[in-house]
Amino acid sequence: MRFYATLPMGLEKISAEEIRKIGGKVLEIKDQRGRVFFEGKDDLIPKLNFLSRTLERVMVLLGYERIDSLDDIYACVKKIDFSFIKPNQSFAIRSLRVGEHNFTSIDISREAGQAVIDSYLQDKKVRLRVDLDKPDIIVRVDLIYDELFIGLDTTGDKALHKRWYRVYNHPAPLNTAIASSMIFLSGWRKGRILFDPMCGGGTIPIEAAMILRNIPPGKNREFSYFKFLGEIIPECDENTGISPIYGSDKFKKHVEGAKRNAREAGVEDTIEFFEGDILEIKDLKTNFIITNPPYGLRIGRKRMIEDLYRGFFDRCSDILVGESIVVIITPYSRLVEDISRDLDLRLLEKLPVKYGNLDTTIFKLKI
Ligand SMILES: C[S@@+](CC[C@H](N)C(=O)[O-])C[C@H]1O[C@@H](n2cnc3c(N)ncnc32)[C@H](O)[C@@H]1O
Repeated sequence: MRFYATLPMGLEKISAEEIRKIGGKVLEIKDQRGRVFFEGKDDLIPKLNFLSRTLERVMVLLGYERIDSLDDIYACVKKIDFSFIKPNQSFAIRSLRVGEHNFTSIDISREAGQAVIDSYLQDKKVRLRVDLDKPDIIVRVDLIYDELFIGLDTTGDKALHKRWYRVYNHPAPLNTAIASSMIFLSGWRKGRILFDPMCGGGTIPIEAAMILRNIPPGKNREFSYFKFLGEIIPECDENTGISPIYGSDKFKKHVEGAKRNAREAGVEDTIEFFEGDILEIKDLKTNFIITNPPYGLRIGRKRMIEDLYRGFFDRCSDILVGESIVVIITPYSRLVEDISRDLDLRLLEKLPVKYGNLDTTIFKLKI
């Protein structure tokens, strides 16, 4: 069977590597489209849903085409064989639209839904039931610019990056799939020190601790949609490995929240959280800094952002030892490039990543 995974746009290569490691054969990486095509045995699907840290959804590929109009969408969906759906099962279309089009995602759902009904009626002489709230089958129809991806959703409405441990809701939390991709990109591993000095609700340190301790992100998740492909939940040997992971934030409220999240994730004894301003940090030594500074949209003033970033990189050069890697996600790519030039930092990777509606860049730098 052919499958594809969805993930934050721009991080396809990192996710492709993770799919390979879990046992998939990657067929095509859809760069900047947040999609990776792959194939594998049926038990790969439960494995990916349970073990993957960088994916948002795992899909059975039903169709892929370049299209021009809404009529094309109807035609593409209509020609798919939906006989895997049982006559008594209900279905729903979920759609996504990225780019400029003269129709909405609601139009896509309507056309695609009608096409599924018409296709099934033609083949099976049965009119399938639509249930938008609790469908038995979810068909996703995603139009990314002119590329149409049609798939059977094996993950369900709750995407994989929605982890169970988020009991404290930071106002600007990082998508856990992006956090994990940043950790993989950094090259951090057991025995090396990792520090997030602007950790908010603790996503980056917590994801790192879960990687270290082999805690599956699918733990505590109820899977209902992939079961037709096999019920096997993979074994996972969790360990109690402790490596130095630190997280700090300027605000006590966030530090307390990060501790609560870590407790919920089962990694509170793996991370040391403390309150502190990155601009004043001196005593700590670390090998990797992986962080998600404020976007400044809330802070408002450009000057403050520039001071924070310059101060941050100045502190980094003081507290980093050994490999001395910084991975940072930011909408201020020009500013980071200017600072890198001024401080003579080595740019190792630069990945444009679409984060919701925001164009961000992940930098990997050596100090
Ligand atoms: C975008 S948020 C981080 C969100 C976090 N990655 C999460 O998933 O919850 C940025 C954080 O930086 C913190 N911050 C801002 N200025 C800081 C400074 N000078 N020192 C330390 N933390 C700071 C803010 O309090 C905020 O929690």
